[in-house]
Amino acid sequence: MSKILVTSALPYANGHIHLGHLVEYIQTDIWVRFQKLSGRRAIYLCADDTHGTAIMIRARKEGRTEEALIGEMSQAHQRDFAGFDVAFDHFGSTHSDANRKLCGELWQALRSAGRVVEREVTQLFDPQAGVFLADRFVKGTCPRCGTPDQYGDSCEKCGSTYSAVELVNPVSTLSGARPEVRSAQHLFVTLEPLHDFLTGWTQTPGRLQPEIANYIAGHFLAEPLRDWDVSRPAPYFGFEIPDAPGQYWYVWFDAPIGYMASTQEWCEKHGEKLEDWWKDPDTRVVHFIGKDITYFHTLFWPSMLRAAGYNLPDRIQVHGFLNMRGEKLSKSKGTLVSARGYLDAGLDPQQLRYFYATKLSARVEDIDLNPEELSAKVNSDLVGKVVNLASRSARFLEKTGLSAEYPDDGGLFRAAVEAGTEIRDAYEVFDFARAMRVIMALADRANEYVDRMEPWKLKKDPARAKDVQDVSSVVLNLFRQIVVYLTPVLPRLAEATEKLLGAPIKSLDDANAPLTGTPVAAFSHLMERMDPKKFEALVVPEPTPVADAPTEPADDGAALAAEPLAPECTIDDFTKVDLRVARVVAAEPVPEAKKLLRLTLSLGGGVTRNVFAGIKAAYDPEQLVGRLVVMVANLAPRQMRFGLSEGMVVAAGPGDKEVFVLAPDAGAKPGQRVH
Ligand code: MSP
Ligand code: ZN
Repeated sequence: MSKILVTSALPYANGHIHLGHLVEYIQTDIWVRFQKLSGRRAIYLCADDTHGTAIMIRARKEGRTEEALIGEMSQAHQRDFAGFDVAFDHFGSTHSDANRKLCGELWQALRSAGRVVEREVTQLFDPQAGVFLADRFVKGTCPRCGTPDQYGDSCEKCGSTYSAVELVNPVSTLSGARPEVRSAQHLFVTLEPLHDFLTGWTQTPGRLQPEIANYIAGHFLAEPLRDWDVSRPAPYFGFEIPDAPGQYWYVWFDAPIGYMASTQEWCEKHGEKLEDWWKDPDTRVVHFIGKDITYFHTLFWPSMLRAAGYNLPDRIQVHGFLNMRGEKLSKSKGTLVSARGYLDAGLDPQQLRYFYATKLSARVEDIDLNPEELSAKVNSDLVGKVVNLASRSARFLEKTGLSAEYPDDGGLFRAAVEAGTEIRDAYEVFDFARAMRVIMALADRANEYVDRMEPWKLKKDPARAKDVQDVSSVVLNLFRQIVVYLTPVLPRLAEATEKLLGAPIKSLDDANAPLTGTPVAAFSHLMERMDPKKFEALVVPEPTPVADAPTEPADDGAALAAEPLAPECTIDDFTKVDLRVARVVAAEPVPEAKKLLRLTLSLGGGVTRNVFAGIKAAYDPEQLVGRLVVMVANLAPRQMRFGLSEGMVVAAGPGDKEVFVLAPDAGAKPGQRVH
């Protein structure tokens, strides 16, 4: 029997899952659930993408090992995905034994095929941090137009691309040090020998969406394919290349191999073999990815698989990016809403799943999330049309159960069985938007039927009890049929419907026959309306910087010299100080004191503290209200002339005008402890 292996891109372990990521994982999950409900054998695999400089630097900053960091992120990612009903068959990690072994195998195959070459590369090196700098860790003046503060690969002002070594006055964003140009030996994988093969493969109809196939043909295949730099010199968090000590595989080399490593681990759990999924011609491999990583998946990845004799993907399904109100998601605008934030706000994950489904077509188009549209859509479709069918019928059947024979419904149920063909086709070709439209049209027809039959009026006439049962049986069956079609998108609603009607939903074919003569459980609410304010509250812009520093201060050591480090302390000493995130809810000058502001700090949940802070010369009270600060929350209260001070706001600088209040990054919540 043929089988389908499905993946989503492996999320980077250096950040939390946000609503943009979820477009992909929800899309993939819907498709896999659809395949399973259609009786096909499918597995859904993913893993965390754990390697690279960013993780290494972050672990260093946080004073822990990379393993500890990625372990924690993996837990967080899996919790977030589960919260949105994204049901992987296995979620692995690229930092696994299985992945190391497979990387070795593919590497060996590339070596044997003569596709590995060595070359010297000059790169910027941060002498203070002791690392080679990836482009995004260097900033400097654009060598073409002279705009300062540009990244190491391209200029935002004039759009030109260049190599980081060309930047004028480069600065390492890691340490502020001036990087040196150093050269090192790198290993490259050649792609040009597979040029013709890749042309044929990418241009095979059905392999890629037409716009992607054209993009690849126009941008990359029109010229000789450049060799791919796949090694990084130590220090690097990754796998050391066995036959090149001191060199590590670049994160993008081992990341896609993670798809196979995750399969390997799944196979071990289920007594199967990797070859049955990655070498068997009867397996379809389908990768879901975002448009930003097309190049890696359509050129590098197939060329690696080909060298080692594994199956190449059958289909690479590319989606566009999520925007909010027509703009790119941005941390500073607060639109990069985290998956966790959405769930913690008490919003219903199914509603986001449905909204994305209505927006996802087979085309590579960006998706716009407009909060007003989101709530209007889910309230009108899911609550107003779908769930409403059950609330308008189930209560009338609690005592009698469904009619013993399915009543005459004027052909509604039959027509919806027939519509099932189009719904299945739409799901299969990734056009979920069309599937949702067809399903909602069915819901409209069912609602028209209830409006026409008015069971609540029939109910008043005891002689028409049988009619009430018949009409309600039709409506509840139409409801269940719609829920069956929506099961890939709304698994929880399907579960609740199974309980209501005591009948499992295991297949889309469960929509083909009505239920008759069975009991109906006591009706309980199936879905809340979405409160648009709850979503709005998640979009919190970063506070605008209070004092606009005109020039970047020099990292010249003067501050350290002026105040040398304090004697060593233990971690126990440090944890005695309870630092908390707090929001300034009120700020006012203290008339009797020249330097002081009186601040009311909220720790959340209505807990506030009164604090006097010596920051009057540096801050206007209005600028402070609303922003987050860090406070010493367990400092012994001190009676002052003008009132009780119940803590302290943490700030840097010598004092007077030179005071810099510390602020947590966006997303921190009042009351959170600072460790
Ligand atoms: N680690 C790489 C993928 C390696 S696959 C072998 C990566 N990680 S990521 O965390 O940055 O992104 C994971 C997926 O989420 C990618 O497919 C990416 O396109 C997608 N998205 C990230 N932000 C997105 C939006 N704003 N909108 C839609 N998808 C987005 O890339
Ligand atoms: Zn420029």
